[in-house]
Amino acid sequence: MSKPESADVLPCNLSDNEHFQQVVDRVVSRRGFLKSSLGLSAAVFLAGPLAACGGGDSDDDDEQKGPRIGFKAVAASTADAIVVPEGYSYQVLAPWGSALFVDSPAWRTDGTNTAAEQARQVGDNHDGMHFFPIDGQSSNEGLLVVNHEYVNPEYLYGAEFMTPWTVEKANKALAAHGVSVLHIVRNAAGKWEVKLDSSYNRRITGTTPMTLSGPVAGSDLVKTGADSSGMTVLGTLNNCANGYTPWGTYLTCEENFNGYFGTTSSDEAALTPALRRYGFAKDGFGYRWHEVIDRFDYAKEPNEGNRFGWVVEIDPFDPDSTPVKHTALGRFKHENAAYAIADDGRLVVYMGDDERFDYIYKFVSDGVYVPAQGKANSALLSAGKLYVARFEAGSAAGDMMGAGQWLLLDKSNPLLAGDADLPTQADVLTYARIAADKVGATKMDRPEWIAVHPETGEVYCCLTNNSRRTEAQIDDANPRAGNDYGQIIRWREAGGAAADSFDWDLFVLAGNPVAVPDRKDLRSGSSNINADNTFNSPDGLAFDQDGRLWIQTDGNYSNAGKYAGQGNNQVLCANPATGEIRRFAVGPKACEITGLSFTPDGRTLFINIQHPGEAGSNPEEVAMNPLSVSTWPDAAGGRPRSATVVITRNDGGVIGA
Ligand code: FEO
Ligand code: CA
Ligand code: CA
Repeated sequence: MSKPESADVLPCNLSDNEHFQQVVDRVVSRRGFLKSSLGLSAAVFLAGPLAACGGGDSDDDDEQKGPRIGFKAVAASTADAIVVPEGYSYQVLAPWGSALFVDSPAWRTDGTNTAAEQARQVGDNHDGMHFFPIDGQSSNEGLLVVNHEYVNPEYLYGAEFMTPWTVEKANKALAAHGVSVLHIVRNAAGKWEVKLDSSYNRRITGTTPMTLSGPVAGSDLVKTGADSSGMTVLGTLNNCANGYTPWGTYLTCEENFNGYFGTTSSDEAALTPALRRYGFAKDGFGYRWHEVIDRFDYAKEPNEGNRFGWVVEIDPFDPDSTPVKHTALGRFKHENAAYAIADDGRLVVYMGDDERFDYIYKFVSDGVYVPAQGKANSALLSAGKLYVARFEAGSAAGDMMGAGQWLLLDKSNPLLAGDADLPTQADVLTYARIAADKVGATKMDRPEWIAVHPETGEVYCCLTNNSRRTEAQIDDANPRAGNDYGQIIRWREAGGAAADSFDWDLFVLAGNPVAVPDRKDLRSGSSNINADNTFNSPDGLAFDQDGRLWIQTDGNYSNAGKYAGQGNNQVLCANPATGEIRRFAVGPKACEITGLSFTPDGRTLFINIQHPGEAGSNPEEVAMNPLSVSTWPDAAGGRPRSATVVITRNDGGVIGA
């Protein structure tokens, strides 16, 4: 096919296939739509992957080229090792079980550390993370705050594994969850290390006392036998992704909390519809805590589960502070919490609920952010409005763009006002999923991390995959049945972050042109996907200071079949203006790559390697996927360990530039 006339908006190297025309058609229709409906700057919003695929070689001089991406892409890898670009180096920092206090007990590779010892060591399954400069600006010293999402029992316990099952073992798992606050410094040799004698170092676990704030605090929904006030919760669990606030606190987000609950009761009625909607089940995810700790038995303590599934604020600079679970932001399986400041100063927090067919949410504070008030701004997270997104089709079905609405999750919404299932606003927030079901939100392909562009305010969200979506269930925002690869959706608010409507499109349809060479087949990915950057399951997402968009994956690492040529999970860097995506790093075997934070100068990047070798040593698992076996970070052998990886450039330059 010859190159169409309107070369200014065309992909750079697809002129000989029909996908090219498909892309052109979308671009043309979107340009017309946006100009007529919102009058947005087409040059900015349209300059995306469906408009161009190269790194600044468009013919259109008016088109924004976006940030420089200066590194040489790395190839896919199936090695049990970290791969970084030429001219970059990395180090491993603070693996599971390592010391964060002077008196931290040594980690033992045979799993025999006790619960008390684990509580004095770095937790397991590093996930979301943020670097807080020690003085507000240092790039050589700061507090690295790291989530510990869950535990892998095969690696956590000793040879006797989970038999016999004891409260000590449940307590060890609780002690490996939560958050670590690590005071880290860059030493004279340029390496980062934990300052073990710092009073900032802290472990927050599944038993650390924390308070509830907002409309649900003190309500009957969160009162338990141990807490008749409904104000004090023990612990934070399944701390997956994260956020941070402009006043210097950390947000840790509770995801698959349901998995820790179960029951020994045979009373099937104990599993209420509300519990089912949140995925509770008799045996949970197999952690067995409910067998030895009553609060995790939902028949014994039906409200304990209502005390998890929140966004939790931690002040890393005050090791004596009590973490706060902010109920105004809603209860669901949280991914990260990405903030923006509305034009009028209100705080906006974007959040995803990672479940197949669940939703994207937005919180808008009642009050306004006043920088001079410092940490008192925390009150903004206690009072506000919660919304859920509806993504509507655009001018043409299948063009993967359109308008959208933020639907209010409040008793003042007529769709919720008289609802007997949700009699109070505390019910609406505690059962935000059920409220969202009732107002007609769009069921998404597993919303993961959200990132707000530092200049344009456009919001990007990873929709990681959804193998269960059927042909009958596809829509413009979730356009593929059996979605193996995922996509990144983005939207621009119609008048600032607090707006109640927006315009959206897809930044990328992840796909695999190696396995699916036919570019008319949506499984091959959008035009900015090629054999050199193919990936599946976008998950972590963040912008750097220059507006580069960083993508981390948590997907299938079999490197076979549908995933041929994709290798281990990886980090990619994208130019949001051109749509270019370049592979930056690859992780070891059977890991997820997550957590993403930079020093203020952009010259140090922290990422987390989670659950290397997650499949364990089960012979059947290994036979199915030999690529799953890992000993990382210890090449000499032993149990694999989650850890932070610190990446720098050998010339000291800005990462990615
Ligand atoms: Fe823990 Fe959905 O990632
Ligand atoms: Ca995640
Ligand atoms: Ca994931």
